[in-house]
Amino acid sequence: MLLVTGGAGYIGSHFIKTYLTQNPDAQVVVVDNLSEGHPQALDFSDRILFFQENIGNIHEMGEIFKRHPIDAIVHFAASCCVGESQTQPTRYFQNNVVNTLNLLKAMDEANIRKFLFSSTCATYGTPQRLPLDESHPQNPINVYGQTKLMIEQALQTYSATLGWSYTALRYFNAAGGDNSGLIGEGHSPETHLIPLVLKAALGKRDAIEIYGNDYDTPDGTCIRDYVHVNDLAMAHCKALERLNTQQGGDAFNLGTTHGASVQEVITLCQKVTGRDIPINHAPRRPGDPPVLVANADKAFSLLNWAPQYTLEKIIETAWAWEQTPRY
Ligand SMILES: NC(=O)c1ccc[n+]([C@@H]2O[C@H](COP(=O)([O-])OP(=O)(O)OC[C@H]3O[C@@H](n4cnc5c(N)ncnc54)[C@H](O)[C@@H]3O)[C@@H](O)[C@H]2O)c1
Repeated sequence: MLLVTGGAGYIGSHFIKTYLTQNPDAQVVVVDNLSEGHPQALDFSDRILFFQENIGNIHEMGEIFKRHPIDAIVHFAASCCVGESQTQPTRYFQNNVVNTLNLLKAMDEANIRKFLFSSTCATYGTPQRLPLDESHPQNPINVYGQTKLMIEQALQTYSATLGWSYTALRYFNAAGGDNSGLIGEGHSPETHLIPLVLKAALGKRDAIEIYGNDYDTPDGTCIRDYVHVNDLAMAHCKALERLNTQQGGDAFNLGTTHGASVQEVITLCQKVTGRDIPINHAPRRPGDPPVLVANADKAFSLLNWAPQYTLEKIIETAWAWEQTPRY
C-alpha cells in the first residue's frame, strides 16, 4: 500500500487521482498537515485514508505505519516558494530537511525501503549547458534548491548503507489542472506564472509583472519548461512500477524539453482566454537564470514516459480551473 505525503497539495492530488484510476483496487494513505493543501483536493475518491499530520512527527508516522501495510512512500510534502526560502531559510531547513529526515527515520524503524521524491530543477542552479540533463552539476543558488539537494544526498546514503530503492524526480515547471474540474492549482500566495497570468486575465490582479526583458533570449524574457501536472502524475506511476525492480537510487528530469518564454506564455494565454492581459515591466529578479529547459531523454527511455500536453492545452486546462476554482 502506498503512503502519499502532501497529497492535499497541487501535484500530490493530481498524482493520487491518476494512481487510483490506474489501480482500481488500490487505496492510498495520505498524510498532509494542510499548511498549504486543501481537504477538497481529496474528496474525489473514497479510496483515500486521510491523516492531518506533520510528516516530521516520528511517533505519529510510526503509528500510521503500524496500522497500515505501507510498502512505499511518495513524498510531495514540502515548502516550495523559492523567494520565501531566501527570506525564511530556517523554515525551509526545518520543513524540507528536518521533517523529511524524521520521515526517513520513521520509515527506517518500520522497515519501509521504497521512496519516490519530489525534487526540482532548482537543484542544478545556473545552467552550465543546456538542455539540462541529470548529470549536470547540482549547485543550487537558492535555499529551496539546497534543501531538495540535501534530501537527494541523504537518499543516496540510505540507498548505499541500508539498501533502499529511491527515485528523485526533478520537475521543471508544473502547470495546468485536471480535466474533471475537481482539482487544480490552488496556491496561496500564488507564485507560478500561468495562474498569475490567468488571474490578470480575470481581473483578479491588475496586471502581470515581467521581471526583465533584456535577457539573452529571442524576445528578452526568461524561458522555462512547462509540464502538465497530469503528465507528472503519470511519470510517478511509471517510476513507482520501476521501483519494484530497481536496485539503488536514480534521478529523472521531468520536463517537455520545449522551452517557452514569459512573453510567449502571456501571448498564448491571451489567445486561449480571448482577453487582453495588462503587463507591467519590472527589473530582473536576482537568481533567475535566463533559460531552464530539460533534457528528459532518460525518463523517455527508462520510464517509457512522454508528456501528452502541449503548452496551449496546459493553458486551456489551467484556464478552465481558474474560472471556477473549487478552492
Ligand atoms: N509546483 C512546481 O512547479 C514544482 C516544481 C518542482 C518541484 N516541486 C515539488 O513538488 C512537491 C509538490 O509541490 P506542489 O506545487 O504540489 O506544492 P503544494 O504546496 O501544493 O503541496 C505541498 C503539500 O504538502 C503539505 N505539507 C507541507 N509541509 C508538510 C508537513 N511538514 N507535513 C505534512 N504535510 C505538509 C502542504 O499542506 C501541501 O498540501 C513539492 O515537494 C515541491 O517542492 C514542485
